[in-house]
Amino acid sequence: MANITLTHDGKTFEFPLTVGSEKEGGIDIGKLRSGSGLVTLDPGFVNTASTTSSITFLDGEKGILRYRGYPIEQLAEHSSFVEVAYLLLHGELPSAAQLATFQQTLAANSLVPEDLKHLYRAFPRTAHPMAMLGAAVNALSAFNEDVSDPNVPAQVEAASHRLLAQLPLLASWGYKHAKNQPFAYPDASLDYVSSFLKSTFGLPTAPYAVDDEVRRTLDLLLILHADHEQNCSTSTVRIVGSSKANLFTSVNAGISALWGPLHGGANQEVLEMLELIHNDGGNLQKYVDLAKDKNANFRLMGFGHRVYKNFDPRAKIIKGACDRVLAKLKIDDPLLDLAKRLEETALKDDYFVSRKLYPNVDFYSGIIYRALGIPTNMFTVMFALGRLPGWVSHWREMNALKTPIGRPRQIYTGATERDYVPVAKR
Ligand code: CMC
Repeated sequence: MANITLTHDGKTFEFPLTVGSEKEGGIDIGKLRSGSGLVTLDPGFVNTASTTSSITFLDGEKGILRYRGYPIEQLAEHSSFVEVAYLLLHGELPSAAQLATFQQTLAANSLVPEDLKHLYRAFPRTAHPMAMLGAAVNALSAFNEDVSDPNVPAQVEAASHRLLAQLPLLASWGYKHAKNQPFAYPDASLDYVSSFLKSTFGLPTAPYAVDDEVRRTLDLLLILHADHEQNCSTSTVRIVGSSKANLFTSVNAGISALWGPLHGGANQEVLEMLELIHNDGGNLQKYVDLAKDKNANFRLMGFGHRVYKNFDPRAKIIKGACDRVLAKLKIDDPLLDLAKRLEETALKDDYFVSRKLYPNVDFYSGIIYRALGIPTNMFTVMFALGRLPGWVSHWREMNALKTPIGRPRQIYTGATERDYVPVAKR
């Protein structure tokens, strides 16, 4: 493909195109500043590819999402979360033996350092579970210094396994702390998701039987959240990692980014919004109008996406799963009906149609989490559990590509040089 030509101040500069395997083109401006003295200005990185990546492909216009080439619909139907985690990390689906070894490795590493309990106990019982999860993951750096060197592949591998193995228990401890219940331990005889369910909802006083429908549904949700290329939290993990910060603290930064209501925090906000509308008599038009009012500071949470300008394929799958799961669990949730009617009302409205604002992954997921007994303020923790393989895979890719430290430029708009005035003369 031809180079891109830029003319400025009577001079012409040429930039090569980088073309991806799905034929997306990007102008490689690596020599822009050294040649022309100019930089690009792109707040929110709306037009900027920060890296090449071979992990996830998504086409927002067509509503396509693929992990390592495999369509999300096929993975959702046939795969498991642990298998997807392996796929994201290693680039290929595992053989039966590789999968079994991977599962055993995770089970063997799932015990969390015992002293971390003190950290949880230092939090108020009302603490947001994302605050506890982030703090605990950051604290893991201190317990895992033996695997914190990004330049040693065996340490990177071990750190990846420990983090993947331990995040479910850390998530469950946040739940236990809020409920003032004893902290549990993982059950290495169970699969990844069942062990999480048992350590979260089980009590030492009674046997805990994992409901297979609950396990399969949670597994599905985790698969759907496992990666989404250069989203806010993943870009954060990559940029923190580019300073050679260890994997644990890089992922902690991703947890912070995910918590925001415009990103993963939206799943909690969606449910709170649906409850608000429900308790306010179910007047959908009132809230659709509010979302359109630029002075109202109210958005339809769970709607819109930076990249998808079509149905989010994950939302389609979750919406389908919602009916099935609620029926199987014999739950009649008025919020599901309300959500469907809200979607219908919004998608008939020119404001949403013209801006291509469709339901995203967070719109229906909360209704399922609620049906599984997960408290609303833990929804974003569930997102983090799902997104972890994506964060780890991106951190490893960034590290392997020897990505330079992330350090954007700016266009300075402040005061030009002026002399200091002593305080008495101001
Ligand atoms: N309700 C009402 N108006 C909206 C919404 C919404 N949910 N989303 C976007 N708009 C409007 C926005 O006001 C703007 O209008 P105008 O062109 O008149 O100024 C236009 O649509 C484009 O929006 P934007 O904010 O410039 O788009 P963005 O790409 O910067 O933001 C977004 C994407 C996801 C942050 C945004 O759509 C949003 O705030 N949605 C609600 C929060 C949400 O559901 N977030 C979860 C995202 S998916 C999962 C994840 O990433 O974690």
